[in-house]
Amino acid sequence: MDSTEESENLIVVGLSQVGSESDWRLANTKSYRETFTEENGYYLIFEDGQQKQENQVKAIRNFILQEVDYIVLDPVVETGWDAVLKEAKDAGIPVILADRTVQVEEDDLYTCWVGSDFFTEGENAGKWLKDYLKRRNKGEEEINIVTLQGTLGSSAQIGRTEGFNRVLKQEKNWVMLEQQSGEFVQAKGKEVMEYFLKTYPNIDVVICENDNMAFGAVDAMKEAGKSFGKKGKIAVISFDATEAALLAVERGEINVDMECNPLLGPVVDKVIKKLEKGQDVEKIQYVEETYFD
Ligand code: AHR
Repeated sequence: MDSTEESENLIVVGLSQVGSESDWRLANTKSYRETFTEENGYYLIFEDGQQKQENQVKAIRNFILQEVDYIVLDPVVETGWDAVLKEAKDAGIPVILADRTVQVEEDDLYTCWVGSDFFTEGENAGKWLKDYLKRRNKGEEEINIVTLQGTLGSSAQIGRTEGFNRVLKQEKNWVMLEQQSGEFVQAKGKEVMEYFLKTYPNIDVVICENDNMAFGAVDAMKEAGKSFGKKGKIAVISFDATEAALLAVERGEINVDMECNPLLGPVVDKVIKKLEKGQDVEKIQYVEETYFD
C-alpha cells in the first residue's frame, strides 16, 4: 500500500474475486471496479483467484497483512473457509461475502452476504419447464433431461441444482439422464454437451447452469445437426441473463434465461457505508431477479 489511501482517508477494500470464467463474472468485476473508486472514497486491492480456493485464501491472508479496512470475498466454493475467516476476524477486519456464500461453523466469521437466491433460480427454472411442457401438451410424456452444472461445490451450482431437483422429484415423467460439470466455462460446456449428445439420442431438455455453458451447448447442438430452442426439439434453459444470452433468447436459441444480477458493487458499497456509520446490516441480502423467455 502506498501513502495515497492514508493521506486521502480512503476506505481500503481487499476484494478476492472467483476468476474470469464467464461473461457474468466480467460484468460483476466491472461493477466492483466502477464502485470502489477513489472518487467514491475507496482504495481497491483486487485479486483474481483464477477459480482456485487456495489463491483466494492466499489473497485474504495478504489483505490481513496489509491491514485493509474491509475484505470482500466472492468465494469459489462453499466449504473450507473457517480457518482463514477466523484469522480475518481475529485481525478485526469485517468480511463481506458477495455473489456466492460459505458454509462455516460460526456465522459470525463474516458480517453479511449479498447475492442471488440460487435455489429459487433453480426452482423457477423447474416451474417454467413444467408450465412450458403443459402448454405444448407434453405434460404427461416422458421428458429426458441433461444438466451442465457449474463449478461443483459453489453456491450457484448447489442452489440451482437443488432448486431444479425439487421440481424434478415431483414430476414422475421427468428423467434426469445425467448431470455433469462444465465448470461455468463455454469450452467445457461444449465438450460435456458433445458427450451428452453422443451418449443420449433422446434429449428433450438441457439445463445450463450459466450462459457461457449454454453458448457451448448451442455450438455443440449446431455442429451435431440437432434441432433446439424455441422451434426445436431440445429446450434450452439457462441462467444469468447476460446481454449476449438475451439476444440468443430473442433468436429463439435459448428458451428461457433465469436472471442472476451481477451488479453487486453498489450493494456492497451500501453495506460498507452503513458499517462506517456504526449501523447494523442484514445478515443475508438477496438481490432482485426475474426471468426472460
Ligand atoms: O456465482 C454466479 C455464477 O458464477 C454465474 O452464474 C456464472 O456465470 C458465474 O461464473
